Amino acid sequence: METIRRTKISDLLQQDDFGATVSVKGWVRTRRGNKNVSFIALNDGSTINNIQIVAEIEKFGEDFLKPVTTGACIHVVGKYVESQGQGQKGEILAEKIEIYGSADPATYPLQKKGHSLEFLREIAHLRPRTNTFGAIFRMRHHMSYAIHKYFNDRGFYYLHTPIVTASDAEGAGSMFQVTTLNLNNVPRTEMQDVDYSEDFFGRQTNLTVSGQLEGELGAMALGAVYTFGPTFRAENSNTPRHLAEFWMIEPEVAFYDIHDNMDLAEDFLKYLIRYALDNCADDIAFLNEHFDKELIERLNFVVNNDFVRLTYTEGVKILEESGHKFEFPVYWGADLQSEHERYLVENHFKRPVILTDYPKEIKSFYMKQNDDGKTVRGMDVLFPKIGEIIGGSERESDYDKLTKHMEEIGMNSAPIWWYIETRKFGTAPHAGFGLGFERLMLFVTGMANIRDVIPFPRTPNNADF
Ligand code: 4AD
Ligand code: MG
Repeated sequence: METIRRTKISDLLQQDDFGATVSVKGWVRTRRGNKNVSFIALNDGSTINNIQIVAEIEKFGEDFLKPVTTGACIHVVGKYVESQGQGQKGEILAEKIEIYGSADPATYPLQKKGHSLEFLREIAHLRPRTNTFGAIFRMRHHMSYAIHKYFNDRGFYYLHTPIVTASDAEGAGSMFQVTTLNLNNVPRTEMQDVDYSEDFFGRQTNLTVSGQLEGELGAMALGAVYTFGPTFRAENSNTPRHLAEFWMIEPEVAFYDIHDNMDLAEDFLKYLIRYALDNCADDIAFLNEHFDKELIERLNFVVNNDFVRLTYTEGVKILEESGHKFEFPVYWGADLQSEHERYLVENHFKRPVILTDYPKEIKSFYMKQNDDGKTVRGMDVLFPKIGEIIGGSERESDYDKLTKHMEEIGMNSAPIWWYIETRKFGTAPHAGFGLGFERLMLFVTGMANIRDVIPFPRTPNNADF
């Protein structure tokens, strides 16, 4: 076929240059018609909208058009004309059609519309071709870009923190081990322990659960940094909000206290949601119509209202006095469950909530200790339908307090000697937080299951694709 430069469907649908000969390439969503003419709905992923191709049977022949079925990939050259039909501006009168690849209707799994999300998870290699997943993955891209733009515009530096580490940043112990040892013949020490000195790095290593500790090193030099990378947790939590591999955004800022940190978290989230509303309007409109009729309303509500800020102690009091029957008991000292968080957000305050000053026993070792000896300067941002979307804190910057606390909880400080040294050399108050990227994606798409907002989810017993 002649070489006219290909036009993306998103670009084509924006122009009124009717009469021009254009070239489009994409995957057939549907073909319908009668014995005179075929109408092909073509999508190339650049937008949720299809372009209609009008192909005269007489011109192409029935046999030629036979393999142009749902899922086939074709190249069309033709005249872009004003559409006669409703719901679209222009369509293409096909002059030439080239079939790149057919998709046998007997075996191509995406035949009809309205497959269940569960079924689509089993065909993660093809689900990006559906309207729903096209919309979600385009939005994932726009949100990633917005994150970098937000920080770049505000003078934060993107710091690349390691994926393979020898430390447990959260002290939670839910790590995937990284090893090149032969597991069928593990080298042993005299004490019969695994001899990690023979392993690749000469020590035990794991996939990172958070870039925070290295992020803090960056903040102690560059002032304001952020990470945006994959993180891994081997928690066996098969919930709609947990992944074993997820992406996290972690800003870390020198000279910030917890109030600055809360201001940053609130401004950041509102910016990202506004960015989605402004830049993903077609995709959000589709998701609003098909999955969550209150999506747009909820996004606007969060952008336009202040988050409520209160302490954990105040939050627990509200829950205790609510008279509501929770599955998990609530009392001072309890780690709040998603049902408690959502009660505060959805039933009590009816807006996002930032809880602060948690009991030190349920939070990580690095959080700044309050003078009461019981609580730490941690903060969680709680969102409707999601629960915790951000976790963060002001950091303990005092060498003695930090090391004493680590000793108390029986944490071995040796693997993070470098972290502790920053409290010895030019220590400074600082704070930061982690935003779970897929939790954000759940919120902006209105999807209910975290497996549906990442292209290839990793969950217990599932590493397909
Ligand atoms: O609250 P977390 O565990 O905090 C940290 O990792 C800190 N180091 C962050 C920091 O202060 N720099 O995790 C942060 C966020 C959570 O609020 C949640 O949104 C998300 O990461 N998250 C998960 N998302 C999906 N699947 C999981 N298993 C997640 N665990 C945490
Ligand atoms: Mg947390």
